[in-house]
Amino acid sequence: MRLLVTGGGGFVGSHVVEYYAKKGDEVIALDNLSRARILGSGERNARYNWEHLGRYDNVERAEGDIRDGGLLQRLAGDVDAIIHTAGQVAVTTSLKDPRTDFEVNVLGTFNVLEAARLSKSNPAVLFCSTNKVYGDNVNKIPVEELKTRYTFAQGHASGVPEGLSTDLCEHTPYGCSKLAADIYVQDYGKRHEVDTAVFRMSCIYGTRQFGTEDQGWVAHFVIATLTGRPLTIFGDGKQVRDLLYVEDLVRAYDAFLGRRDRYAGEVYNTGGGVKNTTSLLELLDLLEAETGMRSELCFSDWRPSDQKVYISDIAKARKELGWEPKVSPKEGIKRMVSWVGENKRLF
Ligand SMILES: NC(=O)c1ccc[n+]([C@@H]2O[C@H](COP(=O)([O-])OP(=O)(O)OC[C@H]3O[C@@H](n4cnc5c(N)ncnc54)[C@H](O)[C@@H]3O)[C@@H](O)[C@H]2O)c1
Repeated sequence: MRLLVTGGGGFVGSHVVEYYAKKGDEVIALDNLSRARILGSGERNARYNWEHLGRYDNVERAEGDIRDGGLLQRLAGDVDAIIHTAGQVAVTTSLKDPRTDFEVNVLGTFNVLEAARLSKSNPAVLFCSTNKVYGDNVNKIPVEELKTRYTFAQGHASGVPEGLSTDLCEHTPYGCSKLAADIYVQDYGKRHEVDTAVFRMSCIYGTRQFGTEDQGWVAHFVIATLTGRPLTIFGDGKQVRDLLYVEDLVRAYDAFLGRRDRYAGEVYNTGGGVKNTTSLLELLDLLEAETGMRSELCFSDWRPSDQKVYISDIAKARKELGWEPKVSPKEGIKRMVSWVGENKRLF
């Protein structure tokens, strides 16, 4: 295969590139390397994943911007699939600069779809959407408070299905731009222009993730713990997320590519599911058990539109893609602790 991975220098993107590079496929990684600048995660980090990919002869690295439709058309001319991970990724940044958020997430995704539609090689398009497209509707699901976590009340225990409304509720600019892009991707698939799939991802974590307070909280917690820095918890720390290790996510993408004709235009909630949930407080306990260390904590107000509980109902991905997460939070955190420990100079 020949693939184009937008955001190939990012966390998810670099894992996608590496997965296919190891299989012997030809991969083009496209990135404008903006993450470190925008999220202040350090100049050295900007190129870390990019340089990591330099070891593969079958990876071509293209520095460029998804807002440039002509560039995308040139790169997509002869590929079999486009895995679109590039994006403005932080809710906080979208509140400060909604225009850039809109241009990167909506126009950038539209450019990807058009490049695929016009390509001679009929590439599939896989889009990294987010649970944030459900906005505040998630917070209308009743929750119960337990000692260290919130939990969905009876009747909602299997998590959020794809059919939850994305409408008639509050969002953030990030939620709006991702939702607009998500609907475009579905529509190109449903109208048989392009074989598309939308992956509404929850909390993805893994090695080579440069998490900050604004995005990538699991990595941010691991890095702070191992470097002895204090952590701020927004809310009470009992909010719950389902964690999905990045390699499991890439397997879901690959499973779709094997079934692209049958399921074009579909949406998949993609997370760790009920089995792989943790609250923020519980993750700190898991980290302490793994490292013997614990960051000093301070608590601050809840962030806008934060969800008390988000758990993906992964039944549809399981059934249609024959996919199942394999890496438990305990195992995933162990791998991250070891990667951060070996690369402390970066932090
Ligand atoms: N990590 C998660 O938990 C999570 C959850 C839900 C959705 N997502 C989505 O998954 C995708 C990947 O997220 P990630 O965690 O790997 O983030 P990331 O920031 O590590 O990767 C995104 C990459 O896109 C690049 N980029 C940004 N704007 C660009 C532009 N205009 N042109 C070209 N490249 C550009 C950045 O430089 C970065 O390398 C994003 O679309 C994000 O919204 C991530």
